[in-house]
Amino acid sequence: MPTDWSPVQYLRFADERSRPFVDLLAHVGAVDPAVVVDLGCGEGELTASLSRRWPRARVTGVDSSPAMLSAARVHAVPGRVSFVRGDLRTWEPDGPLDVLVSNAALQWVPEHRRRVVTWSAALAPGGWLGFQVPGNHAAPTHALLAALCRGPRWSDRVGDLAPSTAAVDDPAGYLDVLESSGLRAQAWETTYLHVLSGADAVLGWVRGSVLRPVLARLGDDAATFESAYAAALREAYPQRVDGTTLLPFRRVFAVGQAGTSR
Ligand SMILES: C[S@@+](CC[C@H](N)C(=O)[O-])C[C@H]1O[C@@H](n2cnc3c(N)ncnc32)[C@H](O)[C@@H]1O
Repeated sequence: MPTDWSPVQYLRFADERSRPFVDLLAHVGAVDPAVVVDLGCGEGELTASLSRRWPRARVTGVDSSPAMLSAARVHAVPGRVSFVRGDLRTWEPDGPLDVLVSNAALQWVPEHRRRVVTWSAALAPGGWLGFQVPGNHAAPTHALLAALCRGPRWSDRVGDLAPSTAAVDDPAGYLDVLESSGLRAQAWETTYLHVLSGADAVLGWVRGSVLRPVLARLGDDAATFESAYAAALREAYPQRVDGTTLLPFRRVFAVGQAGTSR
């Protein structure tokens, strides 16, 4: 079973996963930034899109996964787009930032609210900070997984990996964090309705995200766990007569801008 992130599994749903990034960036008003950072950049395709929007910027993607960074290498452009290994729990910029973005990564960092405060202080005058996190921890995908992880069969091995409803905040919580960091802020949520195709499509989706650490931990028993989870998912997300399955997916967004006279 995989022990690291899988760029291939993740990219199966590239269109659905990139749309919130586009929606996030639509609210980042930087015009000609010099220093742009993408935290938890994954396989780098979205990071590279930042360089197309701001061709004069030096764009850096930061991620802790060797597999993701290795896939990201194809998007590197000398002097313009680079990728570095870093852990968001401790990562600090080495100078003022004009744009700091993070798409679908901070939910993996329990201390991200504190980190956002630190990163806000590192913005250049007029700099922008924007992030998006999945806000679906109460959805059946996560609730069913949490129940299975904490159930009698598996709790001693993966009980601690049950998705937590405290992993992310509501928009109002992030608005507070950004405003108390001195930024002019906005926050909002959107529920996307993904239309997935194929059998066990929702299982395929979560394999690239929240299920990954659980399967990695279980090793040879992963298939047994996964088939129990798949059965529960089929009930919660029935396949429609045309073969598609609907997956409502709530996401939470926050964007802030530093004052121009800091
Ligand atoms: C769901 S992917 C999102 C990738 C990319 N931002 C995108 O939208 O396509 C989450 C990424 O966060 C990274 N990640 C998770 N925890 C991290 C940490 N503590 N430090 C750095 N990266 C982390 C993972 O390696 C993974 O590439």
